[in-house]
Amino acid sequence: MGRKKITVVGAGNVGATTAHWLVSKELGDVVLLDIVEGMPQGKALDLAQAGPIEGYDSRLIGTNGYKETANSDVVVITSGIARKPGMSRDDLLNTNAGIVASVTEEIVKHSPNCIIIVVSNPLDAMTQVAWKKSGFPKNRVMGMAGVLDSARMRCFLAEALNVSVENVTAFVLGGHGDTMVPLPRYSTCAGIPITELLPAETVDAIVKRTANGGAEIVSLLKTGSAYYAPSAAAVEMVEAIVKDKKKILPCAVLLEGEYGVNGLFVGVPIKIGAGGVEEIIQINLTTEERAALQKSAGAVQELVTLLNL
Ligand code: NAI
Ligand code: 2OP
Repeated sequence: MGRKKITVVGAGNVGATTAHWLVSKELGDVVLLDIVEGMPQGKALDLAQAGPIEGYDSRLIGTNGYKETANSDVVVITSGIARKPGMSRDDLLNTNAGIVASVTEEIVKHSPNCIIIVVSNPLDAMTQVAWKKSGFPKNRVMGMAGVLDSARMRCFLAEALNVSVENVTAFVLGGHGDTMVPLPRYSTCAGIPITELLPAETVDAIVKRTANGGAEIVSLLKTGSAYYAPSAAAVEMVEAIVKDKKKILPCAVLLEGEYGVNGLFVGVPIKIGAGGVEEIIQINLTTEERAALQKSAGAVQELVTLLNL
């Protein structure tokens, strides 16, 4: 059996760091694509030259064209513009919709059987664009956001509890925006709900910091948005697919009635494996949580409506 082939579109901060994590975990051969001439080629060559030191044998190709991406197993779309201070993810809507649509068209032409993971923002709407443009079945198109948002929450919880991040699980549902829905009730430390371990004010503060997690980093960096954790999150999804791990992860997927949402990409827990989205896991929500999820889905719907897909 040959190696898996993974294409990363957009070789900026998130794309290049995605390629970095992918090869350091030897998940497959990697094609890095960008419109900027020479840049993906240079980054791919640089990363290939780290192979002898780090001990990975993944082949790396940098390119400005799609021929090299042919027959990819997984394609991660990170192309687009990122947030600057004062911009919301939604400000990126029209520019990134055009970019994601044209990229998807090319990807599908060259890799008709791939699984697409969208990272470009605003995430849920861009995933909807990629799915529409691709004509793919819904199991082969998904968006990365919940893994990142829950990793942020896990990081803050582990710090508050002074325990290993490995002991902490967290669940964040909904769209990747200010209305995302962190679920403390389903967040645990070594299996114990965090609501039993931390005072309510601490939990509330962590929930707020999680929802504001992207903006916190934008305001510090000033010239762009987060990329280490976002790329690590995308790579966890790629790994679950190429190793057929059947991992339960929160991802943006097309809901068709689940959680009372229809025809829209929103973040919910799924089982992710070689088939892509193998199952949508429906968990019981309180009335309040359900209302928060509906509100978040409503915010995604507003953007999708603006796009006139
Ligand atoms: P960046 O500006 O560093 O990189 C974007 C790259 O896309 C640039 O190199 C640009 O040349 C390239 N690009 C633009 N149009 C293209 C096209 N048509 N084909 C190929 N490449 C093209 O931005 P960064 O930080 O890498 O972020 C990328 C996207 O990911 C942004 O939209 C950002 O908002 C989003 N993002 C999403 C997250 C999530 O949780 N879903 C988390 C972090 C970032
Ligand atoms: C983030 O959450 C900007 O969506 C990006 O960091």
